[in-house]
Amino acid sequence: MTAHRQITRNDADAIKPLPIRLTVNGEISDHLVPPRTQLAELLRDRLHLTATHLACEQGVCGACTVMVDGRPVRSCLTFAADCDGIEVETLEGWQGDELMDRLRAAFTRNHALQCGFCTPGMLATARDLVERLDTPDEARIRNELSGNLCRCTGYVGIVGAIREVIEERDALRIPPKSPPALPRIAAQGFAPFTARADEVASAAPAALGETTSENGWTIVRRKVTLDHPPKAVWTHFRDLPSVARCLPGADLSETDGKTFAGHVGVRFGPISARFEGAGEFTADDATQSGQVTGRGKDRGGQSNVEGQLAFTVHEGETPATSQVDVSFRFRIEGVLGQFNRPELVNGLVDYILGEFVANCNAVLSGGEIRESKGVSAWAVLRAVIMGFFRRKG
Ligand code: FES
Ligand code: FES
Repeated sequence: MTAHRQITRNDADAIKPLPIRLTVNGEISDHLVPPRTQLAELLRDRLHLTATHLACEQGVCGACTVMVDGRPVRSCLTFAADCDGIEVETLEGWQGDELMDRLRAAFTRNHALQCGFCTPGMLATARDLVERLDTPDEARIRNELSGNLCRCTGYVGIVGAIREVIEERDALRIPPKSPPALPRIAAQGFAPFTARADEVASAAPAALGETTSENGWTIVRRKVTLDHPPKAVWTHFRDLPSVARCLPGADLSETDGKTFAGHVGVRFGPISARFEGAGEFTADDATQSGQVTGRGKDRGGQSNVEGQLAFTVHEGETPATSQVDVSFRFRIEGVLGQFNRPELVNGLVDYILGEFVANCNAVLSGGEIRESKGVSAWAVLRAVIMGFFRRKG
């Protein structure tokens, strides 16, 4: 009974509206906001600044990006009650802004204005990049833009537009701006700490390597260790159906050992697709190396993928283990084009390779392949695998 009264009193305190004053697009306004009100809600519902879009509402898509005190923030993850005294800029505030006018023109020239839903967040981020980046470096732009998701087409036009406006800014000899310093206020209720080296997890990753992009291709290089000698691993790897069984979601419908056809199911959040494809496989026993090339297309024709996989089996640190050098090179066009970004692919590829290695080790030990738990990370594996399939017909 006592505990019930205590909870009720705390809840009542927790929902008491708080007074805030903020400056939005140069205009000061005062508000009383319940603690759980998002900044995005305040902008849209009270100030009617509806260019700020809400989509995922969990900080993933970037549609709600606005500038707060000169830095881009997710207005869906920002409590309005924490915004007392801040300055906010939204798309509406950049009417007549020279940089934004140049960006709008460049977006139009590059066919980068597409569905309109992601566009306000894209433009807010683009303006920040144009103000801040010291060169029109494509990899840097793609990296920094990776927090803004496009679900329709892709980033080629958007990246091209941003590069053009940075070049225009350079031609006008306008130097890049540094972002404003972050306020040095200690976070309440959280004690900062520095990780101690002896507390860092010591488990070795299943794979080591890098992910880069080059002319629209994503290139993934990894070194994978298997707990079996090279001869056994090579025998397993040159047997295409056996390897395909270790790749969750992949299903070979036909193969003669040199060519193959099959399908792969892809699921990543709300995106799901089934790719049909085919490809070729070559293996060289002398060098214990192989190559798979292929091309695929999903049923609805919304995404195409093409790719090559090369691998070589070496002796590992002991004769009882193997090291496999793997290199994927793939390109995805369409709905799943977001997987062309190394920032998205990189961490997940390691997770996926870990599962693949576990399955290979299990098969080589005479055990069973693990059941796929259906986590979304599989989608990247499936997308990568589709690089090895070529569309039938
Ligand atoms: S709505 Fe804020 S990041 Fe998606
Ligand atoms: S153009 Fe808006 S989601 Fe792609």
